[in-house]
Amino acid sequence: MSIAEQPVSLVGLARGLQGATLEESRRTMEICNACRYCEGYCAVFPAMELHRSFSNRDLVHLANLCHGCKGCFYACQYAPPHEFGLNLPKVFAELRRESYEHHAWPGALAGLFQKNGLFVSLATGLLLIAVMLLSALLVDPQALFGVNRGPGSFYAVIPYEVMVALGSLSFGYAVLALVMGLRNYWRESGAKQVGGKALALGLHDALTLRHLSGGGHGCNDTHEGFTQSRRWLHQAMMWGFLLSFASTSVATIYDHVFGWIAPYSWYSAPVVLGTLGGFGLTIGSGGLFWMKFKTDPEPTAQRNFGMDMGLLAQLFLVAVTGLALLFFRHTSAMGMLLVIHLGFVLALFVSLPYGKFVHGLYRFAALVRHHADQRAASQEEGSAS
Ligand code: HEM
Ligand code: SF4
Ligand code: SF4
Repeated sequence: MSIAEQPVSLVGLARGLQGATLEESRRTMEICNACRYCEGYCAVFPAMELHRSFSNRDLVHLANLCHGCKGCFYACQYAPPHEFGLNLPKVFAELRRESYEHHAWPGALAGLFQKNGLFVSLATGLLLIAVMLLSALLVDPQALFGVNRGPGSFYAVIPYEVMVALGSLSFGYAVLALVMGLRNYWRESGAKQVGGKALALGLHDALTLRHLSGGGHGCNDTHEGFTQSRRWLHQAMMWGFLLSFASTSVATIYDHVFGWIAPYSWYSAPVVLGTLGGFGLTIGSGGLFWMKFKTDPEPTAQRNFGMDMGLLAQLFLVAVTGLALLFFRHTSAMGMLLVIHLGFVLALFVSLPYGKFVHGLYRFAALVRHHADQRAASQEEGSAS
C-alpha cells in the first residue's frame, strides 16, 4: 500500500472529524465499491472506483465531491429497512460538515460550526444593534429619519470612513479565513499535481452545478420523483451572489478610482448588477428555504439543518433589504433601511468562514481534484496497455 493510501491516523484528524462518521462512511463505500450499481450517477462513484481501501482523507474528499442529490439513496437495495441500512447522502453530509470544522481557520473558532444556526442568529442580532448604535451616536437623528437625496446621501447616515472601515475589515477577515481554510483542506486532501485542464473542468462543473442535474433527468430533490428545482434555485442564488459581489466591486472602483459618489442612477452598472443579483438571491434562497421544509428528511443530515438554514436566511435578508434600500432610497425610510442592510451584510461577512458558505470552495476543490485523479488514472491505464 502506498503512503497516499495509508489510513490517516484518527488522532491526527481529531478536531471536527468523528470516528463514528468516518467508520460509517468507510463501511458504506466498501459495500458500494463491491456493488457499483450507482456508478453512472455522479462523480463520487468513478472516484470511489480508484480505491480498494479508503483512508480518512479519501473519505473526506469523496464526501465533498458528493452533491447530496439523494439519487443513490432511493436507488439502493441496501437502504433501510435492509439490515445494511445504507444512507450515503446522509453520512456524507455529516462528514462534510465535520470536515469544515476540521479545516477551519483559526482552529480555535472551529466550534462555531456546531450550533451554527445559533451563531449566525447571534452574530446578526449583535451586528444589527452595533450598527444602529453607531449611527445613533455619530449622526444627527434628522439624517437618520429625514429625506436625503443626491451624491453622498448614504454617508449622512453612516459616515464614509466608518462604512469603509467596517466593510473592509469584515470582508478582509472573511477572505483571509476562507483562503486559509481552503489551504488546510487542499493540503490535507492528498491531491496530486493539478493541471489547467482539471482546473477548467472543475470550474465548469461547479458553475453549472453539473452533479445536481442527475445526468439530465434531475435529482430526487424532495422525494423519489425527479426535478431540476434545487439546481435552478441554487443557480439563481449562486449567480445572484456573484452579481451582487460584482456590483459592490464596480461601485468601489467608481468611488475610489473615478471619485463618483453613490447613490448611482438606475442604469448604472452597480445598480443593474445589484438589482439582478438581488432578485436572483431572493428567489434562489427563498425557494431553497421553502424546499427544506418539503424535503424527505431521511436521506438528509438533520444535524446540518441550522447551518443550511442560517446561510439561506442571511442571503435572503441581505438581498431583500438591499432591494428595499434601492427602491426607497429617496424616501425617509432610507436611513433605517441602510442601517439594517449594513448590519445584515456585516453579519454575513463575519460568518462566511464558519458556516455553510465554505462548501462552495471545498466542493470546487474536490471537483478539480477529481478531474486530476481521473486524468492520472487514464494516463496510467494508457501506459500500462
Ligand atoms: C456563491 C457561492 C455559493 C453560495 C452562496 C451557496 C449557497 C448554498 C446554500 C445556502 C445551500 C443550502 C441550500 C439547500 O440545500 O437547501 C447550498 C447547497 C448546495 N450547494 Fe451551494 N453555494 C455556493 C456555491 C456552490 C458551488 C460552487 C457548488 C458546487 C460546486 C455548490 C453546490 C451545492 C450543492 C450541491 C448543494 C446541496 C447540497 C448541500 O446542501 O450540501 N454550491 N449552497
Ligand atoms: S448506494 Fe446502494 S445501490 Fe448504490 S452502489 Fe451503493 S450499495 Fe449499490
Ligand atoms: S447523493 Fe447523489 S451526489 Fe451524493 S453520492 Fe449519492 S448519487 Fe452521488
